[in-house]
Amino acid sequence: MNVWVIGASRGIGLGLVERYLAQGARVLAVVRTPNAALDALAAAAKGRLRVVTGDLRDPDLGTRLLDELGDGALERLIVNAGIMGPAEENGQRASVAELGELFLTNAVAPLRLLDALAPRMAAEGVVACLSSQMGSVSLARAAEMPLYGASKAALNSLLQSWVVGRQPAFAVLALHPGWVRTELGGDKAPVEVADSVAGLVATIDARAGQSGSAFLDYQGQALPW
Ligand SMILES: NC(=O)c1ccc[n+]([C@@H]2O[C@H](COP(=O)([O-])OP(=O)(O)OC[C@H]3O[C@@H](n4cnc5c(N)ncnc54)[C@H](OP(=O)(O)O)[C@@H]3O)[C@@H](O)[C@H]2O)c1
Repeated sequence: MNVWVIGASRGIGLGLVERYLAQGARVLAVVRTPNAALDALAAAAKGRLRVVTGDLRDPDLGTRLLDELGDGALERLIVNAGIMGPAEENGQRASVAELGELFLTNAVAPLRLLDALAPRMAAEGVVACLSSQMGSVSLARAAEMPLYGASKAALNSLLQSWVVGRQPAFAVLALHPGWVRTELGGDKAPVEVADSVAGLVATIDARAGQSGSAFLDYQGQALPW
């Protein structure tokens, strides 16, 4: 199985790479900067892990990555990369550059990549984008991080629109990983990376062969959009 993880240098992305390697998959890890943790995984993976340099914001990333696929199909595309955005969560004070980077990284760039790679997705494959429960408009849990929440709500909306417009054979998921102890989640977060990742991978793999979009948490529970 070919699995691509975009934004795999640390945190949940690195955990996803480890988990899929342990399951025997061939993994492509896309990172802005390679690091020792990935080098060690690659050395132990006997050719099943390739680390490729790339930035999710690069408009040509998808086209460039297609060269990595050869003749095969892509069974799992996981767009994990995401940012918290400006420390100042008051949208009126955040700069144009900060707002642009937040919404480009968290919402628009994942869709641009999906668009470029969709023709090579396996019919029974799964595309999963790391969203957040803060992206649920109906749950309204983003009061403390409204811009971050809005960027994930935008991601969810773009994913839904893309699926309605394209009607792909493969599944397209927006995933909430839990509140996870990473640089982004902070050290008070209750969920370990390994537990989040185990649940995310089970949730992703359970959707193989089903078309349509869904917003799910790492325990496989549906979240309201
Ligand atoms: N942790 C939580 O509690 C939580 C909760 C809900 C949702 N999420 C979502 O889950 C995903 C992973 O979060 P995390 O907690 O693992 O975050 P993290 O520890 O901050 O790691 C973020 C990862 O994204 C990469 N990244 C960011 N911008 C990128 C870009 N433009 N191109 C390529 N890679 C990029 C980072 O790479 P660099 O090393 O190059 O910066 C890093 O590997 C994010 O989408 C986040 O919004 C997390």
